[in-house]
Amino acid sequence: MNVVTVNASKKYDVFIGTDLIDNLGDKIVPFMSGKKVMVVSDDNVFPLYGERAVSSLKNAGYNVTTFVFPSGEENKNIKTYSEIVEAMCEAGLTRKDLVIGIGGGVVTDIAGFAAATFQRGIGLIMVPTSLLAAVDASVGGKNGIDLANGKNQVGTFYQPSAVFCDIETMWTLPEEEYVNGCAEIIKYAMIVKDGLFELVRDKEVKDQYEEIITRCIAIKRDFVEADEFDTGKRMMLNFGHTIGHAVEACSNYSIPHGRAVAIGMAAITKAAVVNGYCTEDTRMQLDELLEQYNLLEDLKFPAEELMDKVKVDKKNSAGMLRIVIPKDIGVCTIKEIYKEECLKWIVLGGAR
Ligand code: GLY
Repeated sequence: MNVVTVNASKKYDVFIGTDLIDNLGDKIVPFMSGKKVMVVSDDNVFPLYGERAVSSLKNAGYNVTTFVFPSGEENKNIKTYSEIVEAMCEAGLTRKDLVIGIGGGVVTDIAGFAAATFQRGIGLIMVPTSLLAAVDASVGGKNGIDLANGKNQVGTFYQPSAVFCDIETMWTLPEEEYVNGCAEIIKYAMIVKDGLFELVRDKEVKDQYEEIITRCIAIKRDFVEADEFDTGKRMMLNFGHTIGHAVEACSNYSIPHGRAVAIGMAAITKAAVVNGYCTEDTRMQLDELLEQYNLLEDLKFPAEELMDKVKVDKKNSAGMLRIVIPKDIGVCTIKEIYKEECLKWIVLGGAR
């Protein structure tokens, strides 16, 4: 088993290995002084891993309640959130108790937000079961819910007490979920020059989960420790995300996050070549890796439509926004631009 320690406003460990869900009850002992646990999950994941987690928790002597909601980004909303916190209240959870989010990014985001806000913050354990949640959403403390007009418009920064990433959950992922997570892994490979790009190019991610997930979490840890509240360096983690979020929104969220980020990475890199930030060779290397993971796609939405979505993105402030531009494999830079200038980048990125 590998362990990555995150030293943010709260210090915690991320455990990456096997047999973690079946031993969850014993694993959480150091993180709570109460006896009550609420498991938050969705109806895709709970039937797969929920019962195993719950029986481990009960065997360890905990009083367990569960909240299982219908899967899908469309349910990461204020209604589900309010049902979760009402259920916590009804179960009599206190600050000595724990919320455990078991699932992909939707679950970890909403469980994190509920834990952060219930009684102004109770203990939180993350158990990511998708590759994307393992390498990104479950670590670093960002949580939230969506509003009608945009993703993650309401949320907090709230670090968990621990993260248990059981790689057994990755072995049975549907192909599209796997590919979705690989997009975020390629993002890490593009922002830090530490051999990750070559590693995922030369051997499939699925053949080296423990190593790759650990490396991605360690990269994310470094950015979170440097800039927990996302005012500077952490924004580097948004490579591909400005256009990616717009693609997701334009598709009414039928294009999943990872795939949309891949489209965003390819587009911004194409524009970066024209604007003289990186070479055609860098673009080709990225495109080839995206193709290898079945993630290479054109920007198929009109530029103006994408721009409308960029305007409601949280990364905007006072008419300016920050975009992450590639300079080389493993080297990116953050540039502040006027919103109007963003339209040019989107057009150069290949939008209609
Ligand atoms: N997912 C980007 C971040 O956590 O900052």
